[in-house]
Amino acid sequence: MAKMIANSLLLLLGALSFIARIQGQDQSGFISIDCGLPENSSYTEKNTGINYISDAKFIDSGVTKTVSAQDKATHQQYFSYLRSFPYGTRNCYRINVTSVTRYLIRASFLYGNYDGLNKLPQFDLYLGVHYWETVKFTNSSVSINYEIIHTLTLDYIHICMVNKGTGTPFISVIEMRILNNVNITYTTPDPSTSLARFRRYKDDPYDRIWEPYWDDEWTELSGRLSNDDFSQNDFKPPAVVLETAATPINPTASLDFHWEDDGDADNNETHHQYFFYLHFLELQKLPANQTRSFKITINGISGDNVELIYADVITRHRLRPPYGLKKNRISLFRSESDSLPPIINALEIYLAKDFSSQIDTQKDDADAITNIKRAYRVDSRNWQGDPCAPEAYKWQGVECSPFDGFLRITSLNLSSSGLTERIAADISKLAMLKSLDLSDNGLSGIIPSFLEQLQSLEYLNLANNNLTGSVSNELLQKQSDGVLSLRDIAASIDCSSNYNLLPKKEAICFDKILGRGGFGTVYHGFIEDIQVAVKMLSLSSVQGYQQFVAEVKLLMRVHHRNLTSLIGYCNEETNIGLIYEYMANGNLDEHLSGKTNRGKPLNWEDRLRIALDAAQGLEYLHNGCKPPIIHRDVKCTNILLNENFHAKLSDFGLSKCFAAEGDTHVSTIVAGTPGYLDPEYTTSNRLTEKSDVYSFGVVFLRIITGQSVIIGREDMTHHISQRVKSMLAEGDITKVVDSRLQGNFDSNTAWRAVEIAMAAVCAISVERPYMSDIVKELKECLAAELARKHNSCVLQNKDLSEQVSVNLISTDMTPLAR
Ligand SMILES: *[C@@H]1O[C@H](CO)[C@@H](O)[C@H](O)[C@H]1NC(C)=O
Ligand SMILES: *[C@@H]1O[C@H](CO)[C@@H](O)[C@H](O)[C@H]1NC(C)=O
Ligand SMILES: *[C@@H]1O[C@H](CO)[C@@H](O)[C@H](O)[C@H]1NC(C)=O
Ligand SMILES: *[C@@H]1O[C@H](CO)[C@@H](O)[C@H](O)[C@H]1NC(C)=O
Ligand SMILES: *[C@@H]1O[C@H](CO)[C@@H](O)[C@H](O)[C@H]1NC(C)=O
Ligand SMILES: *[C@@H]1O[C@H](CO)[C@@H](O)[C@H](O)[C@H]1NC(C)=O
Ligand SMILES: *[C@@H]1O[C@H](CO)[C@@H](O)[C@H](O)[C@H]1NC(C)=O
Ligand SMILES: *[C@@H]1O[C@H](CO)[C@@H](O)[C@H](O)[C@H]1NC(C)=O
Ligand SMILES: *[C@@H]1O[C@H](CO)[C@@H](O)[C@H](O)[C@H]1NC(C)=O
Repeated sequence: MAKMIANSLLLLLGALSFIARIQGQDQSGFISIDCGLPENSSYTEKNTGINYISDAKFIDSGVTKTVSAQDKATHQQYFSYLRSFPYGTRNCYRINVTSVTRYLIRASFLYGNYDGLNKLPQFDLYLGVHYWETVKFTNSSVSINYEIIHTLTLDYIHICMVNKGTGTPFISVIEMRILNNVNITYTTPDPSTSLARFRRYKDDPYDRIWEPYWDDEWTELSGRLSNDDFSQNDFKPPAVVLETAATPINPTASLDFHWEDDGDADNNETHHQYFFYLHFLELQKLPANQTRSFKITINGISGDNVELIYADVITRHRLRPPYGLKKNRISLFRSESDSLPPIINALEIYLAKDFSSQIDTQKDDADAITNIKRAYRVDSRNWQGDPCAPEAYKWQGVECSPFDGFLRITSLNLSSSGLTERIAADISKLAMLKSLDLSDNGLSGIIPSFLEQLQSLEYLNLANNNLTGSVSNELLQKQSDGVLSLRDIAASIDCSSNYNLLPKKEAICFDKILGRGGFGTVYHGFIEDIQVAVKMLSLSSVQGYQQFVAEVKLLMRVHHRNLTSLIGYCNEETNIGLIYEYMANGNLDEHLSGKTNRGKPLNWEDRLRIALDAAQGLEYLHNGCKPPIIHRDVKCTNILLNENFHAKLSDFGLSKCFAAEGDTHVSTIVAGTPGYLDPEYTTSNRLTEKSDVYSFGVVFLRIITGQSVIIGREDMTHHISQRVKSMLAEGDITKVVDSRLQGNFDSNTAWRAVEIAMAAVCAISVERPYMSDIVKELKECLAAELARKHNSCVLQNKDLSEQVSVNLISTDMTPLAR
């Protein structure tokens, strides 16, 4: 292809040869990069006066090489160095530019046997996401270059070399020049088409390269010109280019030139669109009775007349439509017989490239992912150039979809990527992100709240990192609304360095004991600035270890606002423990029994809300997890209260998963706490979700009455459910409700609450309601109580009574979260 063009291509400028010197050229708007030049170096090219700089700050890949000594001696200085790309398919420069500006961009290549292989490579050149050209060489010592005029829309541009398996890509020089008057010069009908330089000459304010061209049918006209001798137009062909012109030897003949398009060899038609810019300047002062006027025809199709006036540059542009012929001819015909023969001073031909089929990544997304790349120094991957496009070279671990004319990043998978330090804040700027997988890395620090800003997030996996802190309520809310799936969030914390992780050593050395749980003692501590509760396994506890493992496994996968979050765990020889978020107001039992000095007794609204919170946590285990989970140890000491007396269910050491979805029960040894234990389960060993309902009923009775579950002997006649039953027989609700409330409650909601609780403790399990029924009832009770308290119906009953949606995601054997 290149050869054919070299032989048949045009352009004229009389006998003028290469004009090298451009003294005092205004270089503003010029970017001149000598690829491979050592970092921070620069020089002024002696022929052109143009300053070339190193490419080091524009690229983070590739290796620097030099051409052979012979080629070095016979070429311009900027061809001495080059940058070669032995690794990766696509390697890109990223160059800051002025956005919405038309640039002339030139990429130059000299192989010069830099690798000693004497084998000419072939590879593809891309401008941003657009295929630009296939770089092909004919001779090791002959440089080639490609030019394109393109309006850059972003404030940076990628120039990429793509390895096609036919030799290692490299590049020698990148030059960019701003073309002013973007509206007038080199406009193409469709802004998405770009002009690729097909042939060019040299020396002008735009640093176009003009080449001499000659034809045996022509003769030369010339005159010395300076830039002040004629009136210039917006295309600014320089004087040195205009001062010679070609005219036919035979004055009556047409002035012709032709070339063959490099299209498909077997086809007489080509699909390229060409733009021609013909520059004319009358060099002679014509006598009054003489004119020079002629008609321009392209492939036989004639256009308007051109009449030249002395010292006035005229530029005509013409278009050859796509689906043109392979052999092309431009002819200038004298328009009148008494006219002087046609002349032409210079010609530019451009091939239009259609870039409309490929769109870029949206700027904010591209900036954010570029910052993420920098933050994590991701360089082992193919993270070069545009993150999303073209599809074949998009960044590994990134998925994108088109929105509003741009590609947006919808998925980021940096699983097992050796990431360390904190979760990069730029992740939250990927506004369309649906899926984020950061599992199996060494990420540390707290789980950041900025993840909440990701409105479209549907999947989040932070498993197997060194993260601390709990998942925020906002994310948990999304999860319980069924719009987000949280995977495996909990961290293995290095307990041998307990004292580093828990810097307030005194506190964790256990001066403040929060309680004694199923298998150990719970302490108050700190990780960084977060207050935590640390449950350490007592070494004597044999069963404790199994419970520990069960609880870790469960809490890794199960996340809900009303279940305590696991911040981390440690599992080493002498240090085995669970680290939870700290719940400032301890457990519910302390408040009901009056064992705590933490202020006033719980009011009726608090009690209803606590019951609802716990019921929601439990309902989630039953319905939101798949297969369902039975808590098995629902009791007041396992309901924890935060600073606002909102509740979470804790202690999952005894919890059991159904083996499979659809199972109705688990057969197991009876375990639980006397008084809260379902009597039917005690006798049958068949554990069902209704066993938790029973326990919840007992909790709720205790919330309502403030009384102990069992008084004195452990038999059913002394059980709270029997006592409430006999009190109810008297028909006076005020006797049932905790006297510490001093009657400050609504008897309607109190009746309703007692009914719910009594239904839950029904001896026959099938007659007990489901937790979902209880949640619904409790929401209504709480709404009614709030309405009473605020003495109006302002409260949006609707919000509170909204059903929690159930969305099961996986058929995994392990319980998952909705
Ligand atoms: C280039 O300059 C920067 C900034 O002055 C400096 O940090 C860097 O070390 C320099 N690089 C070399 C190779 O001299
Ligand atoms: C390009 O621009 C970005 C931000 O606008 C800046 O961070 C970066 O350093 C610039 N790069 C170069 C090579 O000047
Ligand atoms: C390559 O170009 C050089 C210089 O133009 C010339 O001397 C040489 O013969 C050419 N080699 C081939 C194989 O064409
Ligand atoms: C090009 O046109 C746009 C809108 O038509 C205008 O805002 C801009 O100033 C023009 N640029 C030049 C260089 O004339
Ligand atoms: C191309 O044109 C030549 C001469 O005009 C003709 O002989 C040939 O059949 C054409 N080929 C095709 C594929 O149309
Ligand atoms: C134009 O005028 C000059 C004299 O002024 C004369 O010599 C010449 O022949 C004329 N040319 C034509 C084409 O009439
Ligand atoms: C992330 O990539 C890993 C493999 O590198 C794969 O196992 C995992 O399923 C991917 N995550 C998602 C959400 O696709
Ligand atoms: C967590 O941090 C500890 C030391 O702080 C380190 O030994 C361990 O490898 C880290 N874990 C991961 C998964 O990076
Ligand atoms: C339990 O969930 C409810 C919303 O359903 C919420 O208002 C409450 O704050 C949660 N409890 C805690 C401790 O976050």
